[in-house]
Amino acid sequence: MISMKNRVALVAALVLGLAGIGYAVAQEGRGPAAVDSARMAAQASDGSDWLHDGRTYSAQRYSPLDQIDAGNVSRLGIAWYDELETYRGVEATPLYADGVLYNILPWNVTIAYDARTGKRLWTYDPKVPREYGRYACCEPVARGLAMWKGKIIIATLDGRLIALDAATGKPVWTTQTFEHDMPYSITGAPRVFDGKVVVGQSGGDLGVRGFVGAWDAETGKKLWKFFLTPNPTGQPDGEASDSIMPMVRKTWGDGMWTELGGGANAWDSIAYDPKLKMVYIGTGNGSPLSWEHRSGSKGDNLFICSIVAVNSETGNYIWHYQMVPGEDWDYTCTSSIVSADLKIGGKTRQVLMQAPKDGFFYVLDRKTGQFLSAEKIAPVNWATGIDPKTGRPQVNPAARYGTEPVLVMPGPGGAHNWFPMGYSPRTGLAYLPTYESAMVYARDPNFKPKPFRSNSGWGGYTGEALKKRIELMKQATAMDRAYLTAWDPVKQKAAWKVPLPRHGNGGVMITGSDLVFEGTTRQTFAAFDARTGKLLWEMPVQSAPVSGPITYMLDGVQYVAVNAGWGGGAAQVERGAGIEMPRASARLLVFKLGGTAQLPPMKAEEKAPEPPPVTASEAQIARGATLFAETCQVCHGQQAIGGVKDLRRMTRETHALFNDIVLKGIYADKGMASFADLLEPEDVEAIHGYLIARANEDWGQSREGAGAGPH
Ligand code: HEC
Repeated sequence: MISMKNRVALVAALVLGLAGIGYAVAQEGRGPAAVDSARMAAQASDGSDWLHDGRTYSAQRYSPLDQIDAGNVSRLGIAWYDELETYRGVEATPLYADGVLYNILPWNVTIAYDARTGKRLWTYDPKVPREYGRYACCEPVARGLAMWKGKIIIATLDGRLIALDAATGKPVWTTQTFEHDMPYSITGAPRVFDGKVVVGQSGGDLGVRGFVGAWDAETGKKLWKFFLTPNPTGQPDGEASDSIMPMVRKTWGDGMWTELGGGANAWDSIAYDPKLKMVYIGTGNGSPLSWEHRSGSKGDNLFICSIVAVNSETGNYIWHYQMVPGEDWDYTCTSSIVSADLKIGGKTRQVLMQAPKDGFFYVLDRKTGQFLSAEKIAPVNWATGIDPKTGRPQVNPAARYGTEPVLVMPGPGGAHNWFPMGYSPRTGLAYLPTYESAMVYARDPNFKPKPFRSNSGWGGYTGEALKKRIELMKQATAMDRAYLTAWDPVKQKAAWKVPLPRHGNGGVMITGSDLVFEGTTRQTFAAFDARTGKLLWEMPVQSAPVSGPITYMLDGVQYVAVNAGWGGGAAQVERGAGIEMPRASARLLVFKLGGTAQLPPMKAEEKAPEPPPVTASEAQIARGATLFAETCQVCHGQQAIGGVKDLRRMTRETHALFNDIVLKGIYADKGMASFADLLEPEDVEAIHGYLIARANEDWGQSREGAGAGPH
């Protein structure tokens, strides 16, 4: 509940902020986003705000609010919504404090709203150079933002940390977190842990050397930095990780990691225990992805796919647990890291829970890093289980692929990916979207690393291997299943599962009235009974909300807010299977009991224009397909289906401009920068030939409408 004093301060802040007088005066009461350690600690029992990505430092995404419950949730309706004017994935968990809701969109555009009315108070655009879109594997998404002592803190795709005055949206300080010598980018939320901003970065699919840093939330001054792979020069970095690097270096063999950085980048979850003063870093896949190419199939390759605990004050190493030694399958351990106190074997243990991509649900002691238990949450064949004594996976030798295609479960989309997991201390259950999936893996014998490009080291299929791959991929696709899963972390088994149509169901939020909220790939937002999984309420929202929902209390009314903007990695996986969901442009949706706002009707799909005739040779088309996959697919979809703009649906005019768009950058302002640094004119001709062939193949017959890119 907001006290009278706070409400007066809030009104003062809004009035003064809008009048341009600014934050200094407003702070005499309590200015907006006045979050400090005491206020964070009080969140455990007070659900009126949502001040941190996972709400509290435990990152449980559980709120004690209970005004909306099973008895009245049927009356939930839209209080207000905002058109976000993008077809990109909107993955952010918004934040709420003192009557103001803060949100972050693709390209890190940041908006503050009056949480009662939805009126925009300010918008800040950090003007991210559009070429950074190329380095983000899965669209220029932003998964969240942070607040601390009157500042809203964002991390931009091009690596800046920017603190904005919460009252005005004006930058207070800016700092650059990485050099531009490797294809780093940031899509994860920055988090503030008792005054320290901690953030990692993305780029492991292209080739980077992962690290995490901490900066002072007041000044932007760097406090410490911790590298997650060894320095290929063998020299110390002069950073906190130096003391552990001799041990880490011994876990690496000879391979292309020295050129590509080794990966292990922390692109999503980083957690914190304020009493233990430990920061928990969830680390990503290797660069390149194939273990043989990366490290000559030698060594565990620390700290890939691990949780690493460091001291929050110094960044010094405390413990690590590696889920996937010798990572080979694009398994990342960056998924939600959730803290709780669990009764295990009659003893209360302070634990961390994580369900990374690799298909297991892990419970670790967060003080010591001791492995407590792990079980499969989905079909898994890369390992038969985890040795309870050593905590090491029993790796299936058949999953260690060579140049022959092998079917491995889960696939690189994971059994659970970044979609935020939650935990309810009332039910003792964790809630997460799970995905049953498989992929066909083989090592490309001719792979050569190319800096600043996608560098998996996979593929290169020809002849019999290609035939086998096509056969196995059919099997793999037939295995796809998606669920909302409630998992008992003590018994290590599912309490219930709700089947959902496809991969890409959103993050969860659980309330004190035992409701689980989640966006679904039925293009709805829904509430389930946390104890039974029974569907209690569901509303079509014209898109599949992939983000994490939040809840807050304002004027005695409980609100629920979620970004509904389908896109990002899940959408890419679905497009790979030929599925594009027609959808509305993204929106921020805010619900309350008795809300009456209506969404406008969806625009009718434009009919695809007739493509020009195919004139390219088969060899040109095949070359174009490879170049397209290497250079264009991240944004324009696998097999050119959907994406930011469906290139099977280009008009005659666009076909005529094709070379100028791709080589001269005439659409740079729309986010389509020139590729003249990577492609020759004959490459562009081959890609164009391939796209014309694809358009002809699918014209008038593509599944679920010919893509729903922006029109
Ligand atoms: C980083 C993301 C990204 C990558 C990679 C990318 N594009 Fe684009 N492309 C865009 C965006 C964004 C647009 C503009 C969408 C819009 O109109 O709103 C666009 C538009 C285009 C258009 C204009 C389409 C039309 O109908 O107006 C063409 C043609 C195009 N891209 C070709 C390519 C080719 C070929 C490649 C690979 C060499 C490529 N793009 C790679 C993001 C990307």
